[in-house]
Amino acid sequence: MTFKTLDDLTDIAGKRVLVRVDLNVPVKDGKVTDATRIERVAPTILELSKKGAKVILLAHFGRPKGEPVADQSLGLIVPAVKDVLGQPVAFAEDCIGDKAKAAVDALKDGDILLLENTRFHKGEEKNDADFTKALAANGDIYVNDAFSAAHRAHASTEGLAHLLPAYAGRTMQAELEALEKGLGNPKRPVVAIVGGAKVSTKIDLLSNLVKKVDALVIGGGMANTFLAARGTNVGKSLCEHDLADTAKQIMIDAAAAGCAIILPEDGVVAREFKAGADNEVVAIDKIPADAMVLDVGPKSVEAVNAWISRAETLVWNGPLGAFEIAPFDAATVAAAKHAADRTREGALISVAGGGDTVAALNHAGVADDFTYVSTAGGAFLEWMEGKPLPGVDVLQQK
Ligand code: 3PG
Repeated sequence: MTFKTLDDLTDIAGKRVLVRVDLNVPVKDGKVTDATRIERVAPTILELSKKGAKVILLAHFGRPKGEPVADQSLGLIVPAVKDVLGQPVAFAEDCIGDKAKAAVDALKDGDILLLENTRFHKGEEKNDADFTKALAANGDIYVNDAFSAAHRAHASTEGLAHLLPAYAGRTMQAELEALEKGLGNPKRPVVAIVGGAKVSTKIDLLSNLVKKVDALVIGGGMANTFLAARGTNVGKSLCEHDLADTAKQIMIDAAAAGCAIILPEDGVVAREFKAGADNEVVAIDKIPADAMVLDVGPKSVEAVNAWISRAETLVWNGPLGAFEIAPFDAATVAAAKHAADRTREGALISVAGGGDTVAALNHAGVADDFTYVSTAGGAFLEWMEGKPLPGVDVLQQK
């Protein structure tokens, strides 16, 4: 994979650099509740500013569908961006047109400006040529640091790279390098852990993984669908019985590709889905008819950890159990800690991301110990599905 990075950007003092970042952060009562995505793009912004560029940030926020929506204004995020950067950040009330131009014209070398939500214009999601041109009018150079929006072929994530010299920012670079180590050209054995509630949302992902990894651990609610397809009675557990054939096909494909499928051997069952609910550990073929599996059991954790011990590379998406309610977080925490230990020892490359995964690793207190934890949701899943990411492809050097 070859793409230009900030290392290739010398002599940029005074240049207008349009930087696509992902500021789609959670906000509650007007306050950013998790600034991780802002922290991730800070190195790129500060490096460009230090080199004397006029740094112009482009981002989306929410899904306003081409119309201005007050509570999806990036103006709300400016204080958090300033806090993280420790620098003044100007704001323009539009990302194109007179307001954007005036704000850009006022910039001095090293200044940072955030333009309003690109999705306030219909042209953004349509990757419309005129809209892309209007964005490009404010820049000399384009840097994309928003891997987490790279599955979208939008004007600010894809279109601009056709109009301006295009570079990957530091976070995009780190992400692509980590993903290359994860599945692109990994050290073997490669083990994938996939958890979460439903098979239906991850059919493409599972189908792709069985062709690429040596062992696939299936946990979370989706394990029940596989167990049921195999004939196990899963009681009142979350289970998509209508996907039995899909699950069977994935197991057949795995066998053909030489990928071991690791399903739970035991489960922690309860009669209520709530923290502290009465629970017991049962063998997986002894799930009581009136109970549901809320976590994989200790024998299963042992098996997962044995695979982690054997692996050189681990790719992780989704928790093994209902980690948000104790004590059903035990398996996810134990496996995450083991993966973190092996990574710290230098024995494992561990890449995680998508959906609840970051929250689960944070809950286990080990997110910082993984080789790379992606803040991307949909983009990480599409990467795991083996789908092309337009925002990445366009940065590739032909
Ligand atoms: C995300 O939050 O995953 C990215 O910012 C992409 O947002 P989107 O799903 O609205 O395109």
